[in-house]
Amino acid sequence: MADFRAPPGTHDVLPPESGRWERLVAAFARRARRAGYGLVVSPIFEDVAVFARVGEETDVVRKEMYDFLDKGGRRVALRPEGTASVVRAWVQHRPLVPFKAWYAAPSFRYERPQAGRYRQHHQLGVEALGTDDPELDVEVVALAYRVCREDVGLGGVTLLLNSLGDAACRPAYLDSLRAYLDARRDQLCDEHRERALVNPLRVLDCKREACVSATAEAPRLMDDLCEACSSHFEAVKAGLSALGVDHRLAPRLVRGLDYYTRTTFELRASALDSAQNAVGGGGRYDSLVEELGGPPTPGIGFGLGIERLLLAAESEGVFPAPERAVDVWVVDNTGGREATLLASELRSAGIAADRAFDGRSMKAQLKAADRSGARLALIIGQRELEAGQVTVRDLEKGEQHEVARSEVVVTVREALS
Ligand code: HAM
Repeated sequence: MADFRAPPGTHDVLPPESGRWERLVAAFARRARRAGYGLVVSPIFEDVAVFARVGEETDVVRKEMYDFLDKGGRRVALRPEGTASVVRAWVQHRPLVPFKAWYAAPSFRYERPQAGRYRQHHQLGVEALGTDDPELDVEVVALAYRVCREDVGLGGVTLLLNSLGDAACRPAYLDSLRAYLDARRDQLCDEHRERALVNPLRVLDCKREACVSATAEAPRLMDDLCEACSSHFEAVKAGLSALGVDHRLAPRLVRGLDYYTRTTFELRASALDSAQNAVGGGGRYDSLVEELGGPPTPGIGFGLGIERLLLAAESEGVFPAPERAVDVWVVDNTGGREATLLASELRSAGIAADRAFDGRSMKAQLKAADRSGARLALIIGQRELEAGQVTVRDLEKGEQHEVARSEVVVTVREALS
């Protein structure tokens, strides 16, 4: 007998847990739309080269890509993150700038599954293309922060902020970081002893104790920014402060993808285990559009991990699943057609209603009504049917009364308000 299970590192999300997902995606969509971002839906797989641009030296590209040859012999990959897909779509279609997009999308990384780290995870994100105005950075960072704080209600979230400079100031910084790391090569972890000079920023991102202590005194890019990057960063910090968005400077924050320039940020939840405590992150990527074949076009965005946001919310005891799936349960002891009619009428009036099937007994139907968590049961028996009435039972108080069939919707609306 086959015993199929979801693949390692993946999850089925069923009710009532999925009610939290629905609420979160809806809140995110509302907030993004209110700020002028429009939904982008892009393919779940792309030419593998689209994703290679997120960083040849990153774990995401080197070790975790779900890539394969399709039946037409094309090398494609499942999306490991959302930014490259949105940028590829913009380069292909060239909508007007500023182009402001939001998405809710599954992402795939072949990681070692553990709490908060999955092979399929889901991101809520935005990308904004077409301007390097620091006020846009402020808008984007504040949006991510407020989703965590106000929509999910997380108290223990810290916003870390850094600037990674640009083509004018980063090369000189990388040279000095390389020299620093070269002098301490044998103190680095096994992986970075070999690769430190290829992409020295990755060493700052390494969580292994050896690299963390070897880089404690490493030069900080924040101290070496060129004039343009420095004043950009000052404007971002001042804008966030003006909006009351608390942030902490994090000179070692380099993030796990290579496309970042200037503003980078991460949101960390104190409720989560430190290895997986980033509930979201993002930043500027002012060269990515060009790398994907477009004209020079700056961009900035972020991705928030749905699973991690909900894990953090659960351990803080906030953002619960909705208490009930429906408000009303229709109990029909006359064959089932009356329940069909009444449920349909309620739903058309915007009232969430459900009913039992298969001609179950009155007792079984009432039990189903209780189990559903509905506030009200509407009962139609032979007697009610003949009298043109419906019994309205308040399932919380245990009280009931009869109303005319034609008055049911109005009565239910009043009872639920
Ligand atoms: P990222 O930091 O790689 O950035 O991922 C964003 C968020 O997705 C993380 O902070 C985390 O909450 C969640 N996440 C990532 N990998 C996993 C995983 N294996 N399991 C569970 N959750 C995970 C990006 O992907 C960038 N595209 C963000 C961005 C948008 N930057 C600019 N625009």
